[in-house]
Amino acid sequence: MTERMEEALNKQLNAELYSAYMYLSMTAWFEAMNLDGFASWMKAQALEETEHAMKFYNFINERGGRVRLMPIEGPPTDWDSPVDVFEAAYKHEQRVTGLINDLVDLAIQEKDHATQIFLQWFVTEQVEEEASFSAILEKLRMVGESPGPLFMMDRELGQRRVNLPVASNP
Ligand code: FEO
Repeated sequence: MTERMEEALNKQLNAELYSAYMYLSMTAWFEAMNLDGFASWMKAQALEETEHAMKFYNFINERGGRVRLMPIEGPPTDWDSPVDVFEAAYKHEQRVTGLINDLVDLAIQEKDHATQIFLQWFVTEQVEEEASFSAILEKLRMVGESPGPLFMMDRELGQRRVNLPVASNP
């Protein structure tokens, strides 16, 4: 693996950890608002982001690269409303999609076929992530501030279970 590719993968490992950190911050906000279902959904998302980070961690190691951890930026801690949270989260996922696409472009440039194949999982994952954030955002926009439907959504989102298949296993 080229040095350029290794550095870019390390940067993405950091970006995935930042995602986890930001979603954990959103979890804390929902908890403070007593929206436990939203909180539990966000916590599951934070854990999945840690799993994404571990996929990069493991891949860099498997390729004989060197994992170098960098400081994680501090996430925002306050939002105006649940809609505000999901707008920020959706925008964030769109940004992450851009980062993944840039990584694919770099892997093509570097003629790094293994990394291209590794990144395909993330390309597909980003389609799903954007879709799920945008679906919740649209619903929230319809619900507005009405407590009844908001609590129904809260109960529904609380059903999400965490899916941590492989990367976190030592
Ligand atoms: Fe790891 Fe939400 O992208």
